[in-house]
Order: sequence, then C-alpha cells, then structure tokens
Amino acid sequence: RANKVSNICCIGAGYVGGPTCAVIAKNNPDITVTVVDLSEPRIAAWCSPALPIFEPGLYDVVQVARDGTDGRTPNLYFSTNISQAIDEADLIFISVNTPTKTAGRGAGSASDLAYVESAARHIAEVARSDKIIVEKSTVPCGTAGSLRDIFNALAPSVHFDILSNPEFLAEGTAINDLVKPDRILIGSLTDERSVSAAEALADVYAAWVPRERIITINLWSSELAKLAANCMLAQRISSINSLSAICEATGANIEELSYAVGLDTRIGSKMLKASAGFGGSCFKKDVLSLVFIAESLHLPEVANYWKSVVDINEYQKDRFTKRITKSMYNTLARKKIAVLGFAYKKNTGDTRESAAISVIGQLITERANVAIFDPQVKEEQILRDLAAEHPAQIVRDSVTVYADAISACADACAVVILTEWDHFKTDQIPEPRPDVDLGALHAMDERALSNHHSIASSDSGIDVVDGSADSSPTIKPIVQQPASVKTNGQRIDWYKIAATMRRPRLVFDGRNVVDPRRLASLGFKVESIGKRGWQ
Ligand code: UDX
Ligand code: UDX
Ligand code: ADP
Repeated sequence: RANKVSNICCIGAGYVGGPTCAVIAKNNPDITVTVVDLSEPRIAAWCSPALPIFEPGLYDVVQVARDGTDGRTPNLYFSTNISQAIDEADLIFISVNTPTKTAGRGAGSASDLAYVESAARHIAEVARSDKIIVEKSTVPCGTAGSLRDIFNALAPSVHFDILSNPEFLAEGTAINDLVKPDRILIGSLTDERSVSAAEALADVYAAWVPRERIITINLWSSELAKLAANCMLAQRISSINSLSAICEATGANIEELSYAVGLDTRIGSKMLKASAGFGGSCFKKDVLSLVFIAESLHLPEVANYWKSVVDINEYQKDRFTKRITKSMYNTLARKKIAVLGFAYKKNTGDTRESAAISVIGQLITERANVAIFDPQVKEEQILRDLAAEHPAQIVRDSVTVYADAISACADACAVVILTEWDHFKTDQIPEPRPDVDLGALHAMDERALSNHHSIASSDSGIDVVDGSADSSPTIKPIVQQPASVKTNGQRIDWYKIAATMRRPRLVFDGRNVVDPRRLASLGFKVESIGKRGWQ
C-alpha cells in the first residue's frame, strides 16, 4: 500500500458522509473522492442542484469539487456503484447510520450495527488490494474489533488497517465545523503499519487543518471519545433544562443563569441554552448506547447516571406541553394552536427526534387543531414524522401544515415556538419605553387595551388603532406596523400575527427566541422556557 492516499470511497451519503467528503475533496484536488449509497434517489439528488440535505454553504463546496466551478478538474463523485468504488479506493470511510436497535438484545438502547456490518461485508467481498478502513459513524467502543473479525474471516488475503476517525460536525453548521474543526481525532493500533495508516489519513486533513489540531490516540479511546463527547453535550442541556424548571418556579431567569454560569471558564458558555428538549439523530441514541454499554459491563450506577440525561429530556418536553395546556385553562379541544418550527434545531431541514414530534403529539391528544410552519421542513416529512409516532387518523384530522407563518397563526389561540429559527426573532419590533407598564397592560381587558393610547405614542413605535365599539370579542386588528419599521426578509411579521390572532394573544416560547417585552408591547402574553409566566 502506498503511503499517500489518492482514491477515497465513502460508504453512506448522509448528513455526515456527504458534507465531510465534499470538504475533503475541495481541499484535496489530487484525491478522487467517491461517495456511494444504496439509495438511488439520494445519490441522484447529490448529483443534482437540489442536494438531499439542507446545510448552509454546502452547495458552494459541492459545486467546486463536483462540478469544477472554479475551473479545476472535478474530483467528487456520487454513485450507487458501491463495488467499483470500493475496488478502486485505497481508503474507505464507513459513514452509515447506526440507529438504536428496535428488536432483540438491547432493543431501545444498544446501537444497531447492521448497516456497519453490511458495509464491512461488502468491502470484504469486493476488495482485492490492501485498504485503510475508517470508522466515521459513531460506534460502540470495540467495533473496530468486530470489523477485524469480519475482514479476517471473509478476506484473509487482503490487509486492512482499521482506524477510528469520528466526526464532530453539528447540523446547520456542518461546513464551518468541517472547515475549522476543534480537533480531528484519529484512533489507531500502535504497530508500525497502523501508525503509518493514521499518518496517511492525517495528511488528508492536513490539507486544510493545522497539524496541532490533528490528534492521534488509541483506537478504543477514539471510539469512546466520540460517544462521550455527545453524551456530555446532551448532559449539559439536560442540566440547564432541569434548572429551567426551578427558574420557572422561583422567578429566576434561565438566560441570566446560563450567562452567569457560563462565564466561569471551567464551565464555558456553549450548549447552555434551555429548550423544550434536545433532538437530533445523535444525542438520545448515543446516551442510550452508553447506557447499554455500562449495563453490559455490569456498571448499573453508571448506566443510571446517564439514563437520567434522557429522562430529563423526556420530562422537559412533557413539562413544556403541560404548561401550555394549563395556561389555556386545561382545555385545548378544537382550539387552533400554531406551531412555529418543526426541525430539531435551526438551519437544518432534519427532524429526527425533534421535540416538536412529542410536543405536537401531546397537543393533538388533547384534541387541539395544530397549524405548523417551518421554513425548511416539507409537509410530507412533518406528516410522516407525526404519523410514525401517533395515531395516523388523529394526525390527519388535527394537523395542517402551512407554507408561511402568517397563515399558520391566523385565528390561532396560541403560538408555540419549537425551533430557534432566526425568522421568529422580534428584533424588528422597537423596544418598549421603560415606563410602559406591561403588567398593567395585561391586566386590562381587551377593549381597554385597544383604547390604551398611552402605548400608541410614536416613540414607542406602536400604532394602536381603536378596537370595536361593542364589547363582543370579534377578531379585529388593533395593532398596525408603524411605517418606520422595516421587516427583514428573514423575520416573520409579528404585527400581522398580532392583528389576526385570537385574544388573548398567547405565545409559548420553547427556545427563548422572542423578546417577551417587545411582544408584550404588541399585546402578546409570552411564556418562555425557564422564565416565570406572563412577562
Ligand atoms: C469549588 C469551586 O471550584 C469554587 O468555584 C467554589 O467557590 C468553591 O467550590 P474548591 O472546592 O476549593 O472550589 O476546589 P475545586 O478545585 O473546585 O475542587 C473541588 C473538588 O473536586 C476537589 O476534591 C478536587 O480534587 C475535585 N476535582 C476537581 C476533581 O476531582 N476533578 C477535577 O477535574 C477538578
Ligand atoms: C450533535 C453534536 O453537537 C455534534 O458534535 C455531533 O457530531 C452530532 O450531534 P447536532 O445534533 O447536529 O450535533 O446538533 P446540536 O447543535 O448539538 O444540537 C442538538 C440538540 O440540542 C438540538 O435539538 C438543539 O436544539 C439542542 N440544544 C443545543 C439545546 O437545546 N440547547 C443548546 O444549548 C444546544
Ligand atoms: P448520518 O447522519 O450518520 O450521516 P444518515 O442516515 O444521514 O446518517 O446517512 C447514512 C446513509 O448510509 C444512508 O443514506 C443509507 O442509505 C446509507 N447506507 C446504509 N447502509 C449502507 C450500505 N451497506 N451501503 C451503502 N450505503 C449504506
């Protein structure tokens, strides 16, 4: 085997394999990179202008490497011819999915390695020359040993060097994370051949990553480090979410708390945002995988400790929904509730394990009519996700997906924010004057509110138009956007929502994305996660 890599194959064209190989190919014009997948539609999408995943900046990178838009020779290919790509490669990434097992030993907790195993078998069947095999997928500690057994049994005449090189990118920021990684971890055995394989892989990254950020450690540490990193990140969010419950009960404010605690350099400020629960394809799966590993090693105290991270996350989703129900007089039946955001975080169209799936499930169990808007997630995806977890008939009867926020919120009794999309921010609304008593405003009945000219002054920036003369609760716009306010294309128009929602205009912010005071100045009542009600 030559010490320099010239041909890379990546098995699995998903959220990890696709962006990672695009960045590798862009930065290594001399290396041919072929990403393969079993799924024909997925590969067809990767070959088209409509990539199968939404990721800021991804298309630019793909265009350079796949299409040679900057005048260079293309070196990034997407294909379903897995055998050919394996045969030609000297380094193969395994980037397939490792979901939680749904049946058999460890069901609901252990990682399902069936896809990793089938990729390994495929490699063993096809390979005729020595290859470096790189685990990219997050795998339980010890998986490299299982791969070795498969290769030894099926392809004894070919030499495989097995490396662990976990990927730490987060969705929504994948390109930035790949271009400027905190570290590149390469795990290998310590014999000379393995070390030289690790060096060959390090050279691929060194094309754009400073050498001091490329860390080589032992194979088992590398496998466990990826799992540990995800579990500790999830644990931070469960910690802050558990504290958000205390904040709501005491009047402490979770954002002030996160800020104050995060200033301690030993703790740090990242991953401390309270939410209605973490989602995504990794955190829950990886924590449960660690729980299973601990149980398998007869370490029940360790297993229980990590299990509580997932328990708090379930509790948080449930707690947020209960708060909505309670604030709406314990009855949601036939009330229209607008849900803003369905993706598990902003800047992605991915919905796997999104808190929205559980929260909306509970709302429709209470017989609410749920109107959903997400800037990136398609209607079919939303309905498929909900029907997979909740009775399909109830989903069909109770859920409508809208293409814009204004329609979703029209006539709604409440707005529930579940994803922190910038679109939902309230920075286009002027800060209310400090002397405007928002508490008193809330205490007023609707008619008084609409006649309350003290907040209609021009320096508060809000025009309040007289409400209807009779006292019937008709839906009539009382708030108009002042001409001076510019709405950024990326922001939804809260003025219009105020004008078309039912009163009282309830907003439940599961992400602390809106400013309760600004919304209050438009007549909204906001309940935010980790803050006491009706600010
Ligand atoms: C702690 C807080 O650090 C400090 O901010 C607060 O004001 C008081 O409590 P202290 O108890 O003096 O300070 O020491 P600290 O360095 O935090 O260590 C506490 C314990 O944790 C020690 O037993 C220490 O050995 C242990 N520790 C600390 C670890 O086991 N591992 C670590 O990585 C750090
Ligand atoms: C995560 C890890 O960050 C990444 O390193 C790993 O490679 C894959 O798993 P990802 O799931 O894409 O990445 O996104 P992340 O930004 O970590 O968010 C996960 C979930 O936690 C999201 O639902 C997010 O909204 C939530 N979250 C994140 C919070 O609730 N609060 C925070 O402070 C941060
Ligand atoms: P991740 O988030 O880890 O990238 P994804 O589910 O987005 O996971 O992508 C994994 C991809 O791997 C899927 O597109 C799936 O079709 C593909 N895949 C799974 N097993 C194999 C296999 N044996 N050969 C080729 N592709 C595979």
